[in-house]
Amino acid sequence: MSEQPKQLVAPTGTHDVLPDSSRAWERLIGTFSDMAHQWGFGLVLTPMFEDVAVFNRGIGEESDVARKEMYVFEDRGGRTLALRPEGTASIVRAFVQHHPTTPWKAWYVTPAFRYERPQAGRYRQHHQLGVEVLGTSDPLVDVEVISLAWRFYEAIGLRRIRLLINSMGHEECRGEFVVSLRRHLTDHELQLCEEHQKVWSSNPLRVIDCKKQECRSVVDAGPSIADALCSECVTHFSAVSEGLTAIGVPWERNVKLVRGFDYYTRTTFEFVSDALDGAQNAVGGGGRYDRLAEDLGGSPTAGVGFGSGIERLLLALQAEDVAHFEVLRDDSIDVFVVDTTGGQEALQLSDLLRRNGFAVDRAFDSRSMKSQLKAADRSGARVAILVGPQELEVGTITIRDLRAIDESNRQRVISRIDVVDAVREAIETSLN
Ligand code: HAM
Repeated sequence: MSEQPKQLVAPTGTHDVLPDSSRAWERLIGTFSDMAHQWGFGLVLTPMFEDVAVFNRGIGEESDVARKEMYVFEDRGGRTLALRPEGTASIVRAFVQHHPTTPWKAWYVTPAFRYERPQAGRYRQHHQLGVEVLGTSDPLVDVEVISLAWRFYEAIGLRRIRLLINSMGHEECRGEFVVSLRRHLTDHELQLCEEHQKVWSSNPLRVIDCKKQECRSVVDAGPSIADALCSECVTHFSAVSEGLTAIGVPWERNVKLVRGFDYYTRTTFEFVSDALDGAQNAVGGGGRYDRLAEDLGGSPTAGVGFGSGIERLLLALQAEDVAHFEVLRDDSIDVFVVDTTGGQEALQLSDLLRRNGFAVDRAFDSRSMKSQLKAADRSGARVAILVGPQELEVGTITIRDLRAIDESNRQRVISRIDVVDAVREAIETSLN
């Protein structure tokens, strides 16, 4: 006898989203899409994989994500490609390739792939909602982008979110800061964590966002980017923070917020949830990247954006007990069609009712009346319509209010041609 094949499961660090939880995903994405449009953004879709150079040049070859977490592979044509670890570099690559008029305001929803150590809130495939604006260095664009994220979090019901902002300076003042940081790290090299003792020198900024206590102590005693900013970067930062205050978006400055990618210049920001565990409490983050378009072969074009993790947002909603998000709308269907004549009637009636705007479900496989009625109850439908051989013969339908408490007027017989109006009326009665 042949052995039964081994059951296959989703890869480590990935997960399936099934209908019982996917409704919340739909709502998050739907709310974000509506708001992005309100803010003047258009949806941009780019391939899930790119030439690896898009990410190596974009996020920086020395970033942790490029060095340790990227899914890189060779295709059958010998090209070296990478699965997208984040959304920004691909959007900017598309901008450089298509030369749209500026400012170009793109929103996206995308899976992102990082070979991380999986844990709650950290996955090898996660999903991001985000926006990018290309073609303007106005600090009020930073405010617009940050405020969209903030208003989105408010709209979905999150209350325990804090916005942290910082400025990384532009190329020159950041360069000067890196020189003094390098000096400081050289003096304290042996106090750094094991990993950074070996690799800090290729990208000293990465030590600043190292979570290990050894590195934190060294960084705390070192130079601060805030002291290194040139007057233009200081002015930019003030305009961003004042703009946020002007529209009532609260913020805190965090001078250690350098973020994990090399493309950032000037504004960086992160949204943390106080309802989530410290290590995975960032529900969103972003910043300005005024060199990225050039690094990807385009002409100098300023840019700013953010990305927010859908899984983290759902965890934060759960942790804050935002139950209304789950039950915001009654999603159950309107009508369940019970057909004991073989299924053709259910086919016709479902089609007719759906074309008239009702949410309809039905049973298949010629099940018994009892089994179909059970399925109708399970479906949460307000009304069921029943067709048996007798009804079929005389052109009638039985309509039953599945939520009626009073058994005596629970169902009535109607003429088949009146089904749409009768269903509408039955649903209205059931809603009252
Ligand atoms: P990021 O901070 O790496 O930034 O990711 C954005 C958000 O994605 C994080 O705040 C977090 O909510 C979520 N996230 C990241 N990694 C994981 C993971 N392994 N598992 C679950 N959730 C995760 C970016 O990706 C930038 N592209 C953001 C940006 C847009 N900057 C400018 N424009």
